Amino acid sequence: MSNVLPPLTLLQPPTLAFGAGVRGQCADYLSRVGTKSVLLVTTVSISPLVDPLVEQLRAAGITVETVDDVPPEPALSYFNPCLARLDAADFDTVIGLGGGSVLDVAKLLAAFAGRDQAIGATFGIGLLGGRAKRLVCLPTTAGTGSEVSPNAILLDDADELKKGVVSPWLVPDAAFVDPELTLSLPPAITAATGIDALVHCIEAYANLHAHPVVDLYALEGIRRIGGRMHRAVTRGDDLAARSEVMLGALYGGFCLGPVNTAAVHALSYPLGGRFHIAHGVANSLLLPHVLRFNAPAAPTRYAEVARALGVEGAGDDSEVAERGVELLARLSRDCGIPQTLSEIGIPRDAIPSMAASAMQVTRLLKNNPREVTEEDAVAIYEAAY
Ligand SMILES: [Fe+2]
Repeated sequence: MSNVLPPLTLLQPPTLAFGAGVRGQCADYLSRVGTKSVLLVTTVSISPLVDPLVEQLRAAGITVETVDDVPPEPALSYFNPCLARLDAADFDTVIGLGGGSVLDVAKLLAAFAGRDQAIGATFGIGLLGGRAKRLVCLPTTAGTGSEVSPNAILLDDADELKKGVVSPWLVPDAAFVDPELTLSLPPAITAATGIDALVHCIEAYANLHAHPVVDLYALEGIRRIGGRMHRAVTRGDDLAARSEVMLGALYGGFCLGPVNTAAVHALSYPLGGRFHIAHGVANSLLLPHVLRFNAPAAPTRYAEVARALGVEGAGDDSEVAERGVELLARLSRDCGIPQTLSEIGIPRDAIPSMAASAMQVTRLLKNNPREVTEEDAVAIYEAAY
């Protein structure tokens, strides 16, 4: 029986456009499906990308109301007042235009506007009861894959932990994934978000619940991001490199529903929740240390990851896997991402409480190829210090 493939359900947006210029299809799509009024969720910092979309929507006879104050790490203390001040009767569709945080807030506003369910009761898997609004996502970073995933993450201020709502209702109706939207992204954000996408693929491939359907996306995502990320960081105007990384990030998003991430993400959450370290930076600096911890439990999988990253030559799986870890550390360094917890100002005496917090992220730790105890988490943070 061990060879019987486990069941797997893939949920993807029914309309999914990828490629340079596809953002121009958004207004036509919305007209076609009967949208009359839009709530556009975005940030003022990307107004050069926002204004043309607003013009196209208005030209199509669609009214546009805007929420443009989404913070980099949105918390419940932001989300609940934001939801409360909206009148759900004013819009039939929510558009998210921005990075992962913006898309997550857009997804949650679409889910909770006009419905009577408290968000606090929906953290976890499959607890959201529905969605009243049409939902469209246009990512402006190549990272979270939120535009196709059933996940949305918010910070819970009460315990300084990032928490996820995971539900089929959070998969958008349409996603327009346009690499031109990432051309003006600064190198540091390109690097952090790109590594995050790479980690989605790696953690889905080396995962207790890995599945051949998702393996395809994961390995291909690793190839595309690993091969072109440095170019996208150092030559941001290279549309070919931007396209490769964005496609890889989209593939990473496909991994997030059916298989999802593991210990790198679980251990990175306290860094974001408590110290507000950018998600991709936190993942990047924990990545080599978690991989070295995990490798003995799944050497063949990590050797495949290494080969997808471009590692060549002989050696047994453990040796090839280690060369992959070294390549990842080098890539992160070459892209200018901080390398240690001390470098980003984390106090060493915070490690025990961070380890205790990470142990609460059981929805991801259960996927990790090797069991992580609290002592293990302390040792991984120490190695990253
Ligand atoms: Fe992530």
